[in-house]
Formats: sequence, structure tokens, C-alpha cells
Amino acid sequence: MSIQEHIKPLMERSDHQLDQLLSASTSASGQLLDAMRYSVFNGGKRFRPVLAYAACQAITGQIEDADASAAAVELIHAYSLVHDDLPAMDDDDLRRGQPTCHIKFDEATAILAGDALQTAAFTALLKHNNPGHLPKLLSELTQASGALGMVAGQMIDLASVGHTLDVAALENMHRHKTGALICASVRMGAIAGNASETQLSALTTYAQALGLAFQVQDDILDVEGDTSTLGKQAGADAALDKPTYPALLGLEQAKAKAHELVDTALSALEGFGPEAHLLRELARYVIQRNH
Ligand code: IPE
Ligand code: IPE
Ligand code: MG
Ligand code: MG
Ligand code: MG
Repeated sequence: MSIQEHIKPLMERSDHQLDQLLSASTSASGQLLDAMRYSVFNGGKRFRPVLAYAACQAITGQIEDADASAAAVELIHAYSLVHDDLPAMDDDDLRRGQPTCHIKFDEATAILAGDALQTAAFTALLKHNNPGHLPKLLSELTQASGALGMVAGQMIDLASVGHTLDVAALENMHRHKTGALICASVRMGAIAGNASETQLSALTTYAQALGLAFQVQDDILDVEGDTSTLGKQAGADAALDKPTYPALLGLEQAKAKAHELVDTALSALEGFGPEAHLLRELARYVIQRNH
């Protein structure tokens, strides 16, 4: 079975959860709800929810307990993309092959849709089936999303435009802006599955390596990919003089770094059996993907 076939039911499950959360019965309505739904149901890879499901499966052999976490991480991700594309940030007009939210609607609507998607993530998490896990899950999500995680990374990204970062500073930026939420996706799926501290620690090593590899590959695709396959403007990083792995190390070394990180992620799963198969496949997928 290909990875695409393997993850399709998980993507559909996640979409169903998201659809219920963002259904017309929510109190948001009209343009706000339209903009929120537009930014969620526009063909994302659903990598983060699938990771949450795969981590839960690695612990319990099942995925159901990860539903709320899966929806929550995707909603944070969707909000981060809406804001990332705004004129004041990356000023992008194309996302997932369609006009970005602020182009399709307007800037104020995109800001507000992002805000509302962020809070919707916490509403999603509150639907978790075991209230005993909630404090830990909330702590994971808030740390990964905010001033200790993704938002911090985005701030470093914007402040670094036009500056040359060294490798350590670049890695720190990537670990925050992208790695933190990917790491939380894995950890939340595992926590929802009642992982032991030992299991959680191994999965954290896996997820930290994977999260960094994911952004290194995003940087590589910005150089090597074409706009129609990527669904976002190729070459956007160079046009904005963004600090990236290919810009700093060159393409070949950036690719070697991504491979090395995937090997680290796979090694961290050595203590797991076949129930971690999907986590292994997802690690390989990160550097094989073309969008
Ligand atoms: C893009 O994330 C932004 C980054 C953090 C690198 P994805 O590549 O997961 O985007 P979608 O959700 O599939 O569109
Ligand atoms: C985005 O990084 C990280 C986020 C937190 C959204 P990029 O700016 O490289 O993501 P893309 O390339 O626009 O998807
Ligand atoms: Mg950006
Ligand atoms: Mg961007
Ligand atoms: Mg990018």
C-alpha cells in the first residue's frame, strides 16, 4: 500500500472532524465562517493530524483517541498559514493552488479568520474523550503554538529577512516556526494514547528531528519545486531574501541534512514494533514529498 493510500482514511477522518467543528451550526456565520472554511478545506496534506493519529496508533494500536488532538493541531496550522501569507508577513497570493485567504476575501477578514481558527483549535481540544488528559494536551498545544513555539519562530523569521543567520540560529528558527507544532502533533497523539514517559521521550526525539526535516524540505521545495505542483509560489523565499537551509548551505548540503534528520527520526523508533509503521512511513515521506 502506498503512503497516500495508507493515510487517506486518516485524512478523511480528520476532515470529517473538522467539518463538524466548522459546520454552519457554529455561531460564526457569513463571511467569517466562509473564510475559516476556505482556509481549512482547500487541499492541505493534513500532515499534522495524520501524525497525531499515527502516534496514537504507535501506542495503542488504534487511532480514535487522537481525534480531538488531530483537529486541534490542524486548526492551529491553518490559522498560521492564513497569517503567514498576509501582506505584512510573506505577502503570498497563492496557497494550496488557490488565492490566499486575504486575496479571496480581504485582509481584515483573513486576520479575523486566523484568530477564530486559533480559538477553534482549543474548542476542538475540549472535545477530547478523556478529560484527565486535557491539562497536558492544552499545555502541549499552547507551548507549541505561541510565544514559546510557532509564533516565536515566525517572529525570528520576519526579523531575519536580509540578515545572514548561522546554522544554529537558522535551526532554532525552524524548530520554533514549524518543528514545535509537528512535535506537539506527535506528543499529543501519544499522550491521548496514554504513552509512558519512555515512549513519549522516544517519540519526542522522532518528532523533533522530523519537524526540522519538514521545514528543511519546505525550503528545498521552494527552490526546486514548480508553482503548480507546490500550490504556492516557487522561489518565494529567495524573492524575500529569507534565511533558509539551501540559501545558507546550498541545495546538496540541505538535502543531506534532511536525510540525516530522517535517519535520526527512524532510529528513535527502534524500540517500537509494527504499530509504529505509519510513523516510519511518514518520516520517509517528509523528504520524498514534492509539495
Ligand atoms: C506549510 O505546511 C508550512 C510549513 C510549516 C512548512 P504544509 O506543507 O504542511 O502545508 P499544507 O497544510 O499541506 O498546505
Ligand atoms: C511557514 O513557513 C511556517 C508557519 C508557521 C506557517 P513558510 O513561510 O516557509 O511556509 P510556506 O512556504 O509559506 O508554506
Ligand atoms: Mg513564512
Ligand atoms: Mg510563507
Ligand atoms: Mg516555505
